[in-house]
This record gives sequence, C-alpha cells and structure tokens, in this order.
Amino acid sequence: MTQPRKLYIRTYGCQMNVYDSERMAEALGGQGYVETDSPDDADMILLNTCHIREKAAEKVYSELGRFKGLKAAKPDLKIGVAGCVAQAEGEEIMRRQPMVDLVVGPQSYHRLPDLEARARAGEKALDTDFPEEDKFAHLKSRPKAARGPTAFLTVQEGCDKFCAFCVVPYTRGAEVSRPVERVMAEARDLVERGVREITLLGQNVNAYHGAGPDGADWSLARLIHELAEIDGLARIRFTTSHPNDMGEDLIAAHGTCEKLMPYLHLPVQSGSDRILKRMNRRHTAEGYIRLIERIRAARPDILLSGDFIVGFPEETEADFQATLDLVEAVGYGSAFSFKYSPRPGTPAAERPQVDADVASDRLQRLQALLTRQQRAAQDAMVGRDISVLFEKPGRLEGQMVGKSEYLHAVHVADPAARAGRIATVRVVESGPNSLSGRLA
Ligand code: SAH
Ligand code: SF4
Ligand code: F3S
Repeated sequence: MTQPRKLYIRTYGCQMNVYDSERMAEALGGQGYVETDSPDDADMILLNTCHIREKAAEKVYSELGRFKGLKAAKPDLKIGVAGCVAQAEGEEIMRRQPMVDLVVGPQSYHRLPDLEARARAGEKALDTDFPEEDKFAHLKSRPKAARGPTAFLTVQEGCDKFCAFCVVPYTRGAEVSRPVERVMAEARDLVERGVREITLLGQNVNAYHGAGPDGADWSLARLIHELAEIDGLARIRFTTSHPNDMGEDLIAAHGTCEKLMPYLHLPVQSGSDRILKRMNRRHTAEGYIRLIERIRAARPDILLSGDFIVGFPEETEADFQATLDLVEAVGYGSAFSFKYSPRPGTPAAERPQVDADVASDRLQRLQALLTRQQRAAQDAMVGRDISVLFEKPGRLEGQMVGKSEYLHAVHVADPAARAGRIATVRVVESGPNSLSGRLA
C-alpha cells in the first residue's frame, strides 16, 4: 500500500482563513493527503496567508525562506501559497520565491486538486480567478468525521464597502452570500458530527442576503432564527459586522433568539467624524453610539468588541482624543487595535502619513484604555453563575477550558471532563486572560 502523502497547512489572518484551511485540507484529502502538524515530514506545505497589514504579508516571505532547506533536502516537496497574499501578489510570489510551486487565491480553492496535480507534474500552478461558481458547493466535506464542539461556517464572502485603508474588497472580491439551504445543510451536518456552537463568518456577515427556499433573499437575522431550530445546536455567533448593516431584525434577534450569544464584534475604527469620513466608513461616531444604545436596549448584558485603527493618514491628536472618548462612551469587553499600515492600491496609502512614533504612542494609550475596560468587564463576572461550553482539557489534571456566553475563556475543574458539555459555572477568579470557576 502506498503511504498517504502528508499535508502541512499554516494559517494566518482571520477566521475565514481558518475555515478555508479546513476546506482545503478536505479537498486535498480527496487526493490522498492526510494532515501533519510538522512541516518537516510534509509532502506539501500550504501557507494560507493574510494581506491586511504589511507585517502580515511580509511574514509569508520570511516563512517561505525558512522552508528552503526542507525543499533542498526533499525536491519532491511541493510548496503552495493560498489566501489573500496569493490573491494580491499572484505571480510576483513565484518571482520572489522561485521554490513556490502553487499559488491559489481565496475564490479558487475548489480547483486545488487540479492545481496540486499540475504542481506534482512539475508545472508552476497559479489560479487567482474570481470564478462564477460557488466554491463551497464544489468542496466536499469528509463524511461524518467527528468534530470538536465549536465550528466556523462561512455564509458570506467579500466586501463592497471599500474602506479607504482596506485590501479585503480586492483580495476577496465582491460580496456574495451563500444560499440558505446550503448553509442549513452544512450546519445540520456539523451538529450531527458533535458541534454545539456555530460561528457564522463573513467579511461583512451582517450584510448577508442569501437566497431562501421561498425565493426571497433572507437576512442574517432570518437565517439565525432558522438555524436556532436545529436540535442539538446550542449556540450561535456571527462575525464580522459593519455598523451600517445592523438591521432592526438583527438587533431584535439579540433579545428574542435565546441561542444567539450576547457578544457582538462591531468595529468602528475611529471616533473622529473627520477620520471616519476619510476612511469612507459612511457613518459617524454619534451614529455608532446611538446604534450601540439600541443593541443594548435589546440585550442589556451584551458584551461589545471592536476594531480600531490609530495613525490613519492625517489623524491629529484631537482626532485620536475623539477615539478615546468614543471608547469611554461605549465601554468594550474586548477589542483589537492596530497601527495604520499603508496597503498598496488602497486610496489611504496615497495620503499624508502620520509619524510612526506618534502612531505607536497613540496605539499604546488606546491599548491601555481598552485593556482596562476588558479587565473590568471580566472582573465583573466574579461571583456570577455563567453558562460555559467546555471545549478541551486544560493544562491541569481534570480541568476543562471552555467559553462563556460572552466569549471569556473559562477554566473549570470537572471530574467528568467532557468536551461539548454545557454547564453552569460559578466564577471564582478573574486572571489576565481568563476566568476560573467551579461547577455550580
Ligand atoms: N470586515 C471586517 C474586518 C476586516 S479586517 C470589518 O469591516 O470590520 C480586520 C481589521 O483589521 C479591521 O477592522 C481594521 O481594524 C484592521 N485593518 C484593516 N486594514 C488595515 C490597515 N491597512 N492597517 C491597519 N489595520 C487595518
Ligand atoms: Fe475592509 Fe471595510 Fe470591507 Fe471591513 S467593511 S472588509 S474594513 S473594506
Ligand atoms: Fe487577512 Fe484576508 Fe482575512 S487579508 S484578515 S486573511 S480576509
């Protein structure tokens, strides 16, 4: 019998890449590959890359450099680059790193088996098209392999918003929603395989408008209510959302759909209207704050998360102060903040840049505030009974790690230690990045 070939995938970037990596592993599974967690014994190495900031994109090249020795020792080793750097740079990757055999953009993964065969035959294989067909419909999933208790499910891809700093509309293409019935079938399959929590993914997930079985376009809220009917599915989340697509029905769902978790990632990027305008965000700081008020009216205990960019071109100290003010006004339970990184081909890259030290200083100040808020939100959980979905064993014997409804990591001593269990936990302590508690 021939040995199965080994596939090593490394994933960078957002959750959509995590989902895509799983689909690519499945597609190559059909070609006789099994996954390995070490590049050293791989027959194929695939880097699923991110182009969002310069650091992320440059990492790919330093990583590829590290595989040079492996390739020299094992000429049969095939090296592929997938994801958003593949889409943005295409053939340029093969020019800069001639040892790369295969380049595949995010919309062409269903063509991987063919590309792999071409690479095996010694060709340089490249596909960065935006084909018409639904790539997910062409990606078969492995029949009934058991899954962990949580899963991602991509329902929408691409973006038409064109924020002035962002590469996503170029790397992922125009916004597309998957039909309701496909999403439902995949969700049912996941639940049959042991999944209890599904996170619906999309670059602009709340702009979802998939074709429903009734011929109408369904909103994300309608899709969530339908998913909530699946027995065995206990929790639903979605990410990432744009403030302008938070429809009334989606806001209301946070109050009416019990399975929809009280956590919302709603990036605002800046608190200055002048900067928001230059970012092409098409909303104001005030508009965002009013929106948060409506969401909190529907679900008072909701935990909010956001993304922020500091040092966007022409950002003044007063603009930055407006961001700090917005953060104070909203109160985040978690947040991600970044120093602006000029990206090739985006309008903001052409604007006058903020001094790097000034931007670093602002990032530090913003992060100090966000960390304080995050810690306060976490500390407020101590003494409460919360619902926790156990995901995996912790570092200590008989300990499980899981997630609260608010997405806090929670450590619990659990003699039964079973992943997939949902239990009520009394929180006893709040650490730097997680809570600990005991079964209530
Ligand atoms: N679709 C999502 C997120 C896209 S990227 C949304 O609209 O919210 C994730 C985050 O990366 C963004 O929210 C933004 O905060 C950050 N980001 C995107 N482009 C960036 C750039 N050029 N420099 C720094 N941060 C950036
Ligand atoms: Fe990028 Fe803006 Fe689209 Fe988000 S909404 S993916 S930040 S262009
Ligand atoms: Fe990065 Fe592409 Fe996701 S640029 S953040 S991997 S959509």
